Amino acid sequence: MLEQLKKMRGKRALITGASAGIGKTCAVSLAQNGVDLYLTGRNINALNTVTEQCRALGVQVTAIPGDLTDRAFVRTLANQAGDADYFVNNAGILTYAPLLETTVEDCEKMFATNVIAAYDIAREMAQRMVQRGAGHLLFVTSMSARNVGNHAVAYAATKHAMTAFAKGFRLELKAFNIKVTEVSPGMVDTDMRKDITHPEVLKAIASRKFSPISAQDVADAVVYALASSPGNCPDLIEIRPTQG
Ligand SMILES: NC(=O)c1ccc[n+]([C@@H]2O[C@H](COP(=O)([O-])OP(=O)(O)OC[C@H]3O[C@@H](n4cnc5c(N)ncnc54)[C@H](OP(=O)(O)O)[C@@H]3O)[C@@H](O)[C@H]2O)c1
Repeated sequence: MLEQLKKMRGKRALITGASAGIGKTCAVSLAQNGVDLYLTGRNINALNTVTEQCRALGVQVTAIPGDLTDRAFVRTLANQAGDADYFVNNAGILTYAPLLETTVEDCEKMFATNVIAAYDIAREMAQRMVQRGAGHLLFVTSMSARNVGNHAVAYAATKHAMTAFAKGFRLELKAFNIKVTEVSPGMVDTDMRKDITHPEVLKAIASRKFSPISAQDVADAVVYALASSPGNCPDLIEIRPTQG
């Protein structure tokens, strides 16, 4: 593994959702391994903070702020970051509510970000990787890509769709020497749930008998997958809280 990690130095990665949580932690972890970065997210201040943090580790970092649901921005992003060896498809949103209280608008927003935007930028990056005959796409999905839990049904539907895209990219791109990995975490300790106010949902979260895994646990899995040797493609990495 150590030898493989050394070979990452000088490679380039595009990370979506790099302004917070898992994406931010992946950025720092890849920077620690000498990977130059293209980082994107909408929150410019947060993106600038992680950019400076990674630059201080000695790598080149380009911040490309924007909204992934804006198709024109996705083209701009792909043109600027198109030479990335690794693409970490991580940006995502979650709205928690009982299914009958979930609005169609919430559902649309989640599909627009977690599915359509994720497909759009993955497709752009994959086209460029195919031209070069090398590259690695990594999808951060969720345990909700295989399970459906109370209060997160629409989110689970988006993650089921995302895993289908990950499997499909793998199927259609392996002939072009493109690796595709899905990293599927259980509950992670990030700010993703910070806006939840629904009492039933808050009660359900409070009654959980396990601690969430850390963003660093997920970033470690991402680094492991991206560092894998040329003939080895980690396909699916599921990460659960020990008592979860
Ligand atoms: N936390 C968990 O328990 C958990 C578990 C399993 C899987 N995941 C998945 O892991 C991924 C990262 O989640 P996280 O926990 O790190 O969440 P987070 O802390 O809320 O971060 C989400 C990231 O996505 C970006 N993002 C959201 N919508 C965007 C848009 N329209 N355009 C551009 N960027 C956008 C946000 O950036 P801006 O706000 O700056 O735009 C932010 O950087 C998601 O796909 C999530 O579904 C999370």
